[in-house]
Amino acid sequence: MNDASNVTLFVNAQQTVTCAGPARARRGAEMLDAGVHHGVGVAVQGTKIVAVENDDTLRQRFPNADEIDCNRGLLAPGFVDSHTHAVFGSARYAEHEQRATGVPYLEIARRGGGIHASVRDLRTKSNDDLFALAQPRIARLVASGVTTMEIKSGYGLSVSDELRTLRVIRRLHESSSLRIVATCLGAHEIPIEYRTVANGREAWIRVLIDELYPAVVAESLAQFADVFCEPGVFTLDETRRLLEAAAQLGLTAKLHADELHDGGGAALGVALHAVSVDHLAAISAEGIAAVASSSTVATLLPATMLFLGTGRHAPARALIAAGAAVAIATDFNPGTSPLQSFPLVLTLAVSELRMSAAEAWIAATVNGAAALNLAGKTGQLAPGFSADIAVHDVEDYRALPYWFGERLCRVTWARGSACHTTG
Ligand code: NIG
Ligand code: FE
Repeated sequence: MNDASNVTLFVNAQQTVTCAGPARARRGAEMLDAGVHHGVGVAVQGTKIVAVENDDTLRQRFPNADEIDCNRGLLAPGFVDSHTHAVFGSARYAEHEQRATGVPYLEIARRGGGIHASVRDLRTKSNDDLFALAQPRIARLVASGVTTMEIKSGYGLSVSDELRTLRVIRRLHESSSLRIVATCLGAHEIPIEYRTVANGREAWIRVLIDELYPAVVAESLAQFADVFCEPGVFTLDETRRLLEAAAQLGLTAKLHADELHDGGGAALGVALHAVSVDHLAAISAEGIAAVASSSTVATLLPATMLFLGTGRHAPARALIAAGAAVAIATDFNPGTSPLQSFPLVLTLAVSELRMSAAEAWIAATVNGAAALNLAGKTGQLAPGFSADIAVHDVEDYRALPYWFGERLCRVTWARGSACHTTG
């Protein structure tokens, strides 16, 4: 018999969705199997899951364990929100209405709003301000079932403001059991002050390559480097130069690619061995073929398309049919996706991306983890995986995308500790 000390059992679930299987991204038809079971519980010891078996077997194996009663709810892996910009200052209400009157997102940016507005604002905030603003926002995502999240910098756009954003992200990671992974998005835009001087674009790119990336690596502040690769923002050539330089320093590539227009960003990401290419609402047939034949994860962000009012979505069905690994995430940010509840992404995945509920669960867990190089660690209820667990007050895994707009998550555990509980 195992040593039962410090074991906690999650028992009495109506249904358990494990997402268990190979510790890698699931592609194509593999995404159809989310591992749905009845009468199955989970044993946690320390920070790890040590057993996933039926409740009676668990009680026999661990007779002295504490129990968490799932109360006939749904026991599931925590969501992996693999794409957010969660450290920012103020909201951007005015742009929401501006877009409603017909001003496009990139035109607002051209006029100095959009990302630039958040940059001006972040620069007026102290590190403590940024931490205090981010914490409750992140807590809402955790309270919706998120146990791992990626956060990008990208509203500093100076070496010092990018570095302090990344330090705030590190402090957020250290302040709770939620696992937070950092990405340097210094290439979110060309800062306004570089736009008005000769060769400013090139000068900012040189700052990123020669100063910011080395400083990020020297302080181990991020694992990934991301570029907003989009016609009108960073070109393909600029993106390649930036991500190749970052890779030489050990930063793995991620891309905002083909979000609003097809610029060939997805295929470039594949060529650069990016861990993920994200957005893809305007991806071409060539882009789909490139992603499908690679290990790069296609991360789709349907809440962004909804909030921008584009009436369009990424071609999830074509990507899955071609054999790609699809992940879904919130893209939580003040401009295009002020969304602090993960389950709405599941709803949009089913209703707009035309994914099955099982595909949506795999996209939100295992494949989100793969998009952060964490597929061996989180995203599954399986022995040896991190104890990243959520209990939802629903009786069926399909109910979470279905009852949209409700807050149904009752318990969230990350790395073996509770980080949200109600009632
Ligand atoms: O993923 N597309 C670029 N970046 C963000 C939006 C940033 C903003 O508008 O503040 C996105 O949608
Ligand atoms: Fe984004």
